[in-house]
Amino acid sequence: MLKLENISYKINDNNKIKTILNNVNYEFEEGKIYVINGVSGSGKTTLLYSIAGLISNIEGNILFDKNDLCNLKNHNERDNFRLNNISMIFQNLNLFSFLNVEDNILMPFYAKKIKVDFKVKKEVSDYLKLMNLEGFEKKTINQLSGGEQQRVAIIRAIIQKSKVILCDEPTANLDSENTEIFMSNLLKIKDNLKSIIIISTHDSRLANYADVNIMLKDGKIV
Ligand SMILES: Nc1ncnc2c1ncn2[C@@H]1O[C@H](COP(=O)(O)OP(=O)(O)OP(=O)(O)O)[C@@H](O)[C@H]1O
Ligand SMILES: [Mg+2]
Repeated sequence: MLKLENISYKINDNNKIKTILNNVNYEFEEGKIYVINGVSGSGKTTLLYSIAGLISNIEGNILFDKNDLCNLKNHNERDNFRLNNISMIFQNLNLFSFLNVEDNILMPFYAKKIKVDFKVKKEVSDYLKLMNLEGFEKKTINQLSGGEQQRVAIIRAIIQKSKVILCDEPTANLDSENTEIFMSNLLKIKDNLKSIIIISTHDSRLANYADVNIMLKDGKIV
């Protein structure tokens, strides 16, 4: 269970206090897909970043597995917690453009110091094949189209089998075939691993896959 209690995020914008997240309370359950809708600027990315522990001065409590993420004040603690529990598909992908596809996907394994053996590499290849990227292992990211890069970012997130998977506009660059492949994979992960999957999107195709659809407006769940 992942519980947000009175989450607020305010910033100083030209000497005016701007409220980006406004007292969000929500409980996410294991084994469910949540789809967050909301107009541009409503706070979707900020909400996912707070859950990922990527914003330090957030108000409120984020409770997960007996930890309060907001109490992990130090960067290292938060990085470790994220690495071990949470994976994220970023809206801007955050891939390493001069590294190859395989190394990008394996980056969390390197960070966690997990030994990359033949079995792990085979899993990478299997995912690449599944996502219509067969044989792309050694291509560098800057040789790939936007949709191909998006699928690499997707594989990097789902291959980690995390308890929480955050997906920020994950299908923005995908055609319907690849969207369906990705979403059916998330359905499998939710059933097999009972992960909490939270997707922010403008893509109306994703509503059908959701267990719960959420609307965010002006930093508030409505
Ligand atoms: N560091 C920051 N400084 C100033 N304003 C910020 C900052 N981060 C976010 N904002 C503002 O907070 C609001 C919410 O941004 P956020 O990126 O969470 O929206 P979003 O719902 O993900 O939008 P989109 O659909 O365009 O991705 C926006 O008005 C944005 O301009
Ligand atoms: Mg966003």
